[in-house]
Amino acid sequence: MKRKLIAALMATAMVAAMAAGCAGGAGGGSDKGTSEGGSEGGSEGGSDVITVGFAQVGAESDWRTANSESMKETFSEANGYELIFDDAQQKQENQITAIRNFIQQEVDYIVLAPVTETGWDTVLQEAKDADIPVITVDRMVDVSDDSLFVSYVGGNFQLEGAKACEWLKAYADAKGIKELNIAHIQGTIGASAQIGRTEGLENAAKEYGWNIVAQQTGEFTQAKGQEVMESMLKQHDNINVVYCENDNEAFGAIDAIKAAGKTVGPDGDILVLSFDTVKAGIEATMTGEIICNTECNPLHGPRVAELIEKLEAGEEVDKIAYVDEGIFAHGTDVAKVTVDGTDYEVTEVTQEVIDGRAY
Ligand code: AHR
Repeated sequence: MKRKLIAALMATAMVAAMAAGCAGGAGGGSDKGTSEGGSEGGSEGGSDVITVGFAQVGAESDWRTANSESMKETFSEANGYELIFDDAQQKQENQITAIRNFIQQEVDYIVLAPVTETGWDTVLQEAKDADIPVITVDRMVDVSDDSLFVSYVGGNFQLEGAKACEWLKAYADAKGIKELNIAHIQGTIGASAQIGRTEGLENAAKEYGWNIVAQQTGEFTQAKGQEVMESMLKQHDNINVVYCENDNEAFGAIDAIKAAGKTVGPDGDILVLSFDTVKAGIEATMTGEIICNTECNPLHGPRVAELIEKLEAGEEVDKIAYVDEGIFAHGTDVAKVTVDGTDYEVTEVTQEVIDGRAY
């Protein structure tokens, strides 16, 4: 239940009790712990527990697992939170239902990692009417009224896509690769991560004269990445680059390429580009199976908590808070990439880089 409401109810109860001459009795109630996604949602007796309803996308990728862990670790009972976690299994309608449940449960904050960008106006208006601040995390919402969410914290996907493509351009130039025939395995269509990374590739293809020979969604999953790559390889025998919009798709694509009797890597038939840099992804980058991997950092728990702390203190928060992200590659052929006049250093993946990885 919302803390402000509880505080008001408690104050009223106290005044009534005092008036009845029984102030200080046993009826004040002790602080309650957390409820397991239950409907009571939280605190009483002036407790500082903050209830957060988190509408998570699903569990489609290693990145998502790391993201969920970060949120659960941060919004723990020990840290003064009650987290009501909802896994939407990649379905927007499930997220809408979850948000309506959070509103009914009178949570203090709603945190939304939206499956897709559009379709949120109605339910976010309901949250606003209920006076519950909504923080969007990881992916953005495209709403007609910006006051429907307080803040966005997450990656800048347009920038990620542009960095990856500038790396590919520089690498192809350095290696004398004249023709790029690209298989493009997209993420979930309509998700910010898909929109930005796809935009990066389509812009670069137009500018540099690359051929996107095939384009299909891999839904950010390994199984679908493999299935899509298998079918693309059957239809096109000239693919020399695959641009996967996350690491799990890349793992599936690599399996499909190998199963088709082709090779990946700097001296192989096909260069694999990816996004995320999860542990297994960065390891594959060290071996060259993934030639370039652009970071998408999933550790958003502490970032969202910082926003909540500021809101609790009545402070202003940034409407959009992009996270700093790096670009990682096999070898040292490209030292830096430049996007919109800014240089981004490319990190060669070494064992030390892998050992220092937090996810
Ligand atoms: O929105 C972030 C993307 O979603 C990550 O790249 C991907 O792995 C996840 O499923």
